[in-house]
Amino acid sequence: MLDFKKQVAEILAGKIEDLNENEILEMIEIPPNSDMGDYAFPCFRLAKIFRKAPNMIAQDMVNEIGKVEGFSKVENAGGYVNFFVDNTMFAKSIITEVFNKKESYGSSDMGSDKTVIVEYSSPNIAKPFHIGHIRTTVIGHALKNIYDFLGYDTVSINHLGDYGTQFGKLIVAFKAWGVEKEVEENPIPTLLKLYIKFHEVAEEKPELEDEARLWFKKLEEGDQEAKRLWQWFRDVSLKEFKKVYDMFGIEFDSYAGESFYSDKMPAVIDEMNEKNLLEESKGADIVNLEEFNMPPALIRKSDGSTLYITRDIAAAIYRKNHYDFYKNIYVVGSQQNLHFQQWFKVIELMGHEWAHDCIHVPFGMVALEEGTMSTRKGRVVFLEDVLKKAVEKTTEIMKEKNANLENLEEVAKAVGIGAVMFQELSNNRIKDYTFSWDRTLNFEGETGPYVQYSHARACSVLRKADMEVTSNIDFSLLDGAAISLLKTIELFPQVVKEAARKNEPSIVTRYIVDVAQDFNSFYHATPILVDDEETKKARLAVVYAAKETIKNGLALLGIKAPIKM
Ligand code: ARG
Repeated sequence: MLDFKKQVAEILAGKIEDLNENEILEMIEIPPNSDMGDYAFPCFRLAKIFRKAPNMIAQDMVNEIGKVEGFSKVENAGGYVNFFVDNTMFAKSIITEVFNKKESYGSSDMGSDKTVIVEYSSPNIAKPFHIGHIRTTVIGHALKNIYDFLGYDTVSINHLGDYGTQFGKLIVAFKAWGVEKEVEENPIPTLLKLYIKFHEVAEEKPELEDEARLWFKKLEEGDQEAKRLWQWFRDVSLKEFKKVYDMFGIEFDSYAGESFYSDKMPAVIDEMNEKNLLEESKGADIVNLEEFNMPPALIRKSDGSTLYITRDIAAAIYRKNHYDFYKNIYVVGSQQNLHFQQWFKVIELMGHEWAHDCIHVPFGMVALEEGTMSTRKGRVVFLEDVLKKAVEKTTEIMKEKNANLENLEEVAKAVGIGAVMFQELSNNRIKDYTFSWDRTLNFEGETGPYVQYSHARACSVLRKADMEVTSNIDFSLLDGAAISLLKTIELFPQVVKEAARKNEPSIVTRYIVDVAQDFNSFYHATPILVDDEETKKARLAVVYAAKETIKNGLALLGIKAPIKM
């Protein structure tokens, strides 16, 4: 693809002795609107060197540059040298690029030979996969796709909450009140009920807490019965979680949860000891973080059992040794900010330089319009139900819109689930938001269905044209809305990189809304299937480029792009 910005820098570098090409590249701006050109070079900083007014410097440069290939005009406007890219050359460059790359348009190989771990979802065994988990699941999956697309070797890890004192409680509760058949048939709600009952009863009988601690200790020591029950709870829960992942179309490379590190902790604690990091506090081992204005990290309780944070430290060390990651990313809610700050610091204090390659990617909280979703009280909105309801509603809408659609059920699934994912990925991840059925399932505005519909519309135009779209085209036939659309399409590779740099998939989401909107403007402003074959061919190529870009963008978000809707 032609790099017009670089060309601008080259042209200018020949005219300005005091600045090199890279310095000039950094100074080049993108004007806020197109009548100021595609690229602008500000002359204000040169005023001192040249001892001339910026406006005069710009005018002199414009005169010197004259007519150059690749640009339709070069102008001075108030101290800026404005460059207008030649539309024909531009259209040729971008359309050829999309034609050549197709489903990999927008990708890069910048990440080759580098491993990025994306840890996300990570629900807790025996607890519901609720609406609060949707964000980590959807954001994490999109990030993994984005890093893949940029050529990184990615590893997706589901750090299941499958260990800890709560399993002691669950074992006690199951042994006292549990029925095996009920757990088998309806695992999560049954286990949840047992967990809630444990807390209710323990309020009157606090000795239950001791019993639970004892059972967890047994589990840690490899007791047969404890292990068998724990394994069973884990299996039945994971089976339920996988139903949700299937609906989303998500797979993980690893389900190494907290329990995976249970036998890897003693070595880590030894290492901390060797490095003189541990202090004793009321019989427990802590790392004092006062110096860094943080509460201490509790590494080992007085009864010898380990904690969530200990397992995170052991996990990170394991991952470094096993995967030699370039970046180790954790997509976890902002409630856990302190937790991650604490243990990243502990890793650093252990002398591991790579502590700085561990990145917490936090996100805001989800509130529910109807109330809370605390697992203790049992008022939970299950994610599976949200998705099912989304699909049901979409099916109704699709039946009204296009009852003859052959694979209506399949499309309704792609659109309904896509709608939920898209809305999750629309806002800056750090923002808190309120989940609302209405907003999720709204089919107008800047939503998933709108973008998917635009894609299907492009597919339908291409189908109707029934003509092979080639890149052998008279590009000078393109103008107006077609060029604006192509200018948006051209941004895609940068958008993907920016999304990775900020670990912010919403940059991609908002971008494909732009592409869809520009495509629809083009579609309404420009008849495509016209009689003149050359014009038709050129316009179809633009439709094709828009279609590919939207499809690739949706794929990064983990959303399907049906060809008919
Ligand atoms: N299981 C935890 C929860 O649901 C999230 C785990 C986050 N990941 C981590 N490495 N600590 O709150």
